[in-house]
Amino acid sequence: MLSVKHLIDTNSLTADDITQILDTAKAFEAVNNRDIKKVPALRGRTIVNLFLEPSTRTRSSFELAEKRLSADSLNMGGSTSSVVKGESLADTIQTIDAMNVDMFVCRARLAGTPQRITENTDAIVINAGDGKHQHPTQAMLDLYTIRENFGHLDGLKVAIVGDLSHSRVAGSLAPALKTMGAEVTLVGPPTFQVDDPEWFGCPQTADLDEVIPEMDVVYMLRVQLERMEGAAIPSRREYNRLFGLDERRANLMKPEAIVCHPGPMNRGMEINTEVADSARSRILNQVNAGVLTRMAAMYLLLGGESDGLSA
Ligand code: NCD
Repeated sequence: MLSVKHLIDTNSLTADDITQILDTAKAFEAVNNRDIKKVPALRGRTIVNLFLEPSTRTRSSFELAEKRLSADSLNMGGSTSSVVKGESLADTIQTIDAMNVDMFVCRARLAGTPQRITENTDAIVINAGDGKHQHPTQAMLDLYTIRENFGHLDGLKVAIVGDLSHSRVAGSLAPALKTMGAEVTLVGPPTFQVDDPEWFGCPQTADLDEVIPEMDVVYMLRVQLERMEGAAIPSRREYNRLFGLDERRANLMKPEAIVCHPGPMNRGMEINTEVADSARSRILNQVNAGVLTRMAAMYLLLGGESDGLSA
């Protein structure tokens, strides 16, 4: 059993919670590799996917995870819900809640929305990314991918590189890695650095070439062009020259070091095609791990036991 009722941020998760999610995800790998990718674990449970911001991989990953666990799911988007008619979020949630649902999965532009949902329902809430705040299931799939590669997380050196200040991915990955004993270094241009690196408890630098040779994992963040007010960076080409992961920089990495990216990628900006599609890249492994870790998180939050799987 997890120590939390909802999955809103990774700061609230203990090492034991994270290990349960990763181990349960591992157990679901066998299900996902079968011809018939379905177990009855969540039969009869109702899950509402409330996606108030565009999403491809997170949304499809949650939907597939729900189907593979035999849950009944309801998909609601920003433009198809009464939110566009001016209904308040609280009213929308209370209305759906009155239909007796078990879980809300919420993606929102506004940080804090999933937390607000918990105040208007008894159902369990999973944050599928809220503004610049957190994206906890992304962190779980990242940890899963890294642990699969190295067999452990403790002691690994991980650089999280790029648009730190606009990134909910960094905001959830850094604390989760630290809880699991990894060493995190934040790398980004001064305009993208976080005001208080102590908030993450991680050192922060603008010199990627200096730190890259020591790293086991180089985690490139997408430049959040849609979240930028004013020009925080000079140009695409200049950003690529200073902070992009191109072949020259990838060659500075340890031979066994890996590259991750949450997607969607801005190819030619934070990452170049020759690296994104190289043998070091674990980007598609991350996508695959997304379904497994979301199955695990939903299963455990809805009362499943990590050792009770007959998968
Ligand atoms: C991330 C997101 O939306 O937070 N993408 C994702 O969920 N796979 C990262 C991003 O958009 O940069």
